[in-house]
Amino acid sequence: MSHPVVDAIAGEAREAVAAAATAAELEQVRIKYLGRQGALTQLLRSLGTLPAAERPEVGAAANVAKRELEALLDERLGSAQETERARTRAAARPDLTLPGRRPPVGVVHPLRRVEEEIIEVFAGLGFSVVDGPEIESDYNNFEALNFPPDHPARDMQDTFFVPGELLLRTHTSPVQIRTMKAQRPPVRVIVPGRVYRRDIADASHSPVFHQVEGLAVDRDISMGDLKGTLDLFARELFGARSRTRFRPSFFPFTEPSAEVDVLCFLCGGDGCRVCKQSGWLEILGSGMVHPNVLKNVGYDPEEVTGWAFGMGIERIAMLKYGVDDLRLFFDNDLRFLRQFA
Ligand code: PHE
Repeated sequence: MSHPVVDAIAGEAREAVAAAATAAELEQVRIKYLGRQGALTQLLRSLGTLPAAERPEVGAAANVAKRELEALLDERLGSAQETERARTRAAARPDLTLPGRRPPVGVVHPLRRVEEEIIEVFAGLGFSVVDGPEIESDYNNFEALNFPPDHPARDMQDTFFVPGELLLRTHTSPVQIRTMKAQRPPVRVIVPGRVYRRDIADASHSPVFHQVEGLAVDRDISMGDLKGTLDLFARELFGARSRTRFRPSFFPFTEPSAEVDVLCFLCGGDGCRVCKQSGWLEILGSGMVHPNVLKNVGYDPEEVTGWAFGMGIERIAMLKYGVDDLRLFFDNDLRFLRQFA
């Protein structure tokens, strides 16, 4: 069943189908021939205008052409969609030749790292780690530590006061008082913690910083024990060639008191930029626990003696890593922190 007019349209439609590459293009072909205004649709609709004799032949041929075109379009559409799906799948497949992505891994903060190293040395010597509150009483922070009221030594540490006769502890030494009040000798504790002083932040000051306190109290504890312990500590932290030097100093809660220097690990004592040409670096304050402090916690200074020390973690970290501005530890600038990975 064929008819020249229908054959012409059908032939053109098949060519258009053959030329269409995508589902969208096939849809355009469908609209062009089978849509409301489509060529075959129009032809079928206009059958009434033909001479009666031609109508059956044209009508039959057009219906056949329509079904054939529909079948052809369906088939091509199916394969075009399959091709497109395959292409999308290929695009979504991971490219195994790409370089790997590093998962972002955090690093231990340099202050925490130094704190952990310090604690590890003393833990190895049998010290236990304790802590205390950052909001303290005047009694624990000053009075029990032998700072009498209005004693000028209180001016050494400018204090943040908290309503209710409280303050932000200016050092970790109040934990000496708390520890000794809570237990009988022997005492061997190490106390890491945050402390506060009314200082303006600059390259070497911060209103909040960190200390580690050490305290040992027992029968027959001497200054020699303190020196031996800190000497070992310095070698563990700064290397086997490290040496310590004790200089007389003053703290209300220790007698005698000493400031401790380590041999400059950069120049080995010759003098350099880090040690300001002195060959030595000051790392902590220390001394024999004052008898008044022992009395204040109910210990008998005739029976037991002890030593204590306190060091600033920021300062040690600055020396150890050659950091020249303390504020870098608190800025949380990843370019700085990543160096400690
Ligand atoms: N608490 C003192 C300070 O902050 C350090 C120190 C601790 C000194 C223990 C002697 C004994 O400066």
